[in-house]
Amino acid sequence: MKIEFFKHNIGKKEIARVNKALRSLFLTTGPETGRFEEKLSDYLGVRNSVGVYSCTSGLFLSLKALEIGEGDEVITTPFTFVATSNSALYCGAKIVFVDVEAESGNMDLSLLEHRITDRTKVIMPVHLYGNMCNIKTIKEIAGKAGLNIVEDSAHCIEGEFDGIKPGQLSDAACFSFYATKNITSGEGGAIAVNDDELADRLKVLRLHGMDKSALTRYTEQFAVYDVPVLGYKFNMFDIQAALLIPQLERIEKVWLKKRQIFEEYKKYLDNIEEIQFHSPAKNIKPAYHLLTIRVDPAIRDGLMDYLYRKGIGVALHYKPVHLMKYYRDTFGYKDGDFPVAEYLSRSSLTLPFYSKLKKKQIHYIIKTLKQGLFELKAGSLKS
Ligand SMILES: Cc1ncc(COP(=O)(O)O)c(C=O)c1O
Repeated sequence: MKIEFFKHNIGKKEIARVNKALRSLFLTTGPETGRFEEKLSDYLGVRNSVGVYSCTSGLFLSLKALEIGEGDEVITTPFTFVATSNSALYCGAKIVFVDVEAESGNMDLSLLEHRITDRTKVIMPVHLYGNMCNIKTIKEIAGKAGLNIVEDSAHCIEGEFDGIKPGQLSDAACFSFYATKNITSGEGGAIAVNDDELADRLKVLRLHGMDKSALTRYTEQFAVYDVPVLGYKFNMFDIQAALLIPQLERIEKVWLKKRQIFEEYKKYLDNIEEIQFHSPAKNIKPAYHLLTIRVDPAIRDGLMDYLYRKGIGVALHYKPVHLMKYYRDTFGYKDGDFPVAEYLSRSSLTLPFYSKLKKKQIHYIIKTLKQGLFELKAGSLKS
């Protein structure tokens, strides 16, 4: 049996909507992008959403719009995808890492305040695997120190902490619609922003710094645009939006299906001594993005290899950012700097987890996992 690591959920509705978008006047950022932004704002309960080319560009633009630059410090965790910290480096800011908690893999908030200096400007929490951080505590800490919050919500569209959704308490929350995300346009992203002025600034920055977009030049009387600030080319376009709208419309239905799949895995794997699940805070609604389990680091590589050879797509989320060659070479990070993130990285293993996964595939994965563990234990497999 061959089980892909991920399969998207794009169907007839998306194809029909893209077809319509292709026959429309606007292929670029036009009315369909506006419709997507409105729907996303409604779903999240925020005032504005800004469609961008990727979550990476969203994080970068958010920091730029908050005027983060040389000499400023941005706090995040090393147990994330490299895009989180890269976005701060693009601005010329210094990255300050805080280790994560062992239970959830999210930023350890008991360490956060110790890392704040008079140069700190932004806290960038990452809602790992779709489990939201304690945004209330982050807001309190940020409020006391006068800091901005930019959420890396690449994994977490559907998630909540204590009924609070991404973007509701922070300055900006950035989402990813990359090929393996819960809703996808291949590449894509959006920023949820409550502050109207910040949203306006983001819209200018995402399109060359122009004070009029093609849509406003078309819908309103023609007027020459000016470029008051240096901007970038990170606008979402209508074909992406057309792909995303039907997925956003059924996001809660798919979430229920993913909850069922999660529960099925958990039912059969929870009582296996060698396997641990992450335990995020109790008062969250998980977004169910990634299903990452933990095993003894001594057998993790052997088990991944076993699953792969049995046709099961597996992945590692993540090798910590501070141990990436560029980060080691440039900033002098070394093994042992963030021990919890490093331990989690050595023990983590991500399993296939998507709404198209069939029950018989889930049971094949469970059976193969058990068999792999048994063979590794019996010493018949090298780890
Ligand atoms: C935690 C995290 N942050 C940021 C990103 C970047 O997203 P994008 O590929 O849309 O730029 C990703 C993508 O996988 C991610 O997992």
